[in-house]
Amino acid sequence: MANIIDGKALALKMQSALAEKVKQMKSRYDLVPGLVVILVGDNSASQIYVRNKEQAALKAGFRSETVRLSEGVSEEELIEIINLYNADPAFHGILVQLPLPQHINDKKIILAIDPHKDVDGFHPMNTGHLWSGRPGMVPCTPAGIMELLHEYEVELEGKHAVIVGRSNIVGKPMAQLLLDKNATVTLTHSRTRQLPDIARQADILIVAIGSGHFVTKDFIKEGAVVIDVGMNRSENGKLIGDVQFEQAAEAASLITPVPGGVGPMTITMLLEQTYQAALRSVMSYDY
Ligand code: GUN
Repeated sequence: MANIIDGKALALKMQSALAEKVKQMKSRYDLVPGLVVILVGDNSASQIYVRNKEQAALKAGFRSETVRLSEGVSEEELIEIINLYNADPAFHGILVQLPLPQHINDKKIILAIDPHKDVDGFHPMNTGHLWSGRPGMVPCTPAGIMELLHEYEVELEGKHAVIVGRSNIVGKPMAQLLLDKNATVTLTHSRTRQLPDIARQADILIVAIGSGHFVTKDFIKEGAVVIDVGMNRSENGKLIGDVQFEQAAEAASLITPVPGGVGPMTITMLLEQTYQAALRSVMSYDY
């Protein structure tokens, strides 16, 4: 039976350390890290994420603002609002919750965010930094997974990491972060042939395909580390991951649950990167 990775515990530990750093920042520099989250429409999953982000930011002592816009807002109006926050020195992080409604081009919106305030790490300047092995803002979910792997002392050097899912938010940046730690990385996706055979070669299997219980025991090598990024609703409304947890836990050595695994770390990294952006603003240094 696998050991279970407690993402909530690490998130709480890091967030309370962060609250301490925020106090010091306030007394030393009279500076409070500021985060604005922009939410368009009323997607129910997004509403929950945004509320959780807001609460965690306030608890850590941040200035936290949430801008809720109606589904019908135009691209131009949204860009105008982003520009207000780009120019406002009280805010060091700007996050536009995805997905956006169909009529808004998310690539254009991401480009409108000042890359120095792009705490999601989605702006091409930041993705470029990441792929060239330079410091910059990193997408929060893969950054949180790296923290979990570090906390649980998972060796990466020379190990085979298989990632299932090639999104800009998780799969692609995850590949680069693991390469930086000298893992051998295979990036797979929904069209990959013989996916279970490839997954079974993984020492570390990271699943972010967005399909409930997609990964069964056939995908897992005995002793593998399994990281489940999935957040899906089952038919009876239960929150489930991309991995069949019970089956996978029999073969894996270490596994994340859903909820309580990767999710809490995403918010933690968002706060951490906002704090770092605030620090850079007083230190006047770039990445
Ligand atoms: N939607 C789902 N995950 C994310 C994320 O990490 N950032 C943003 N902005 N939207 C998301």
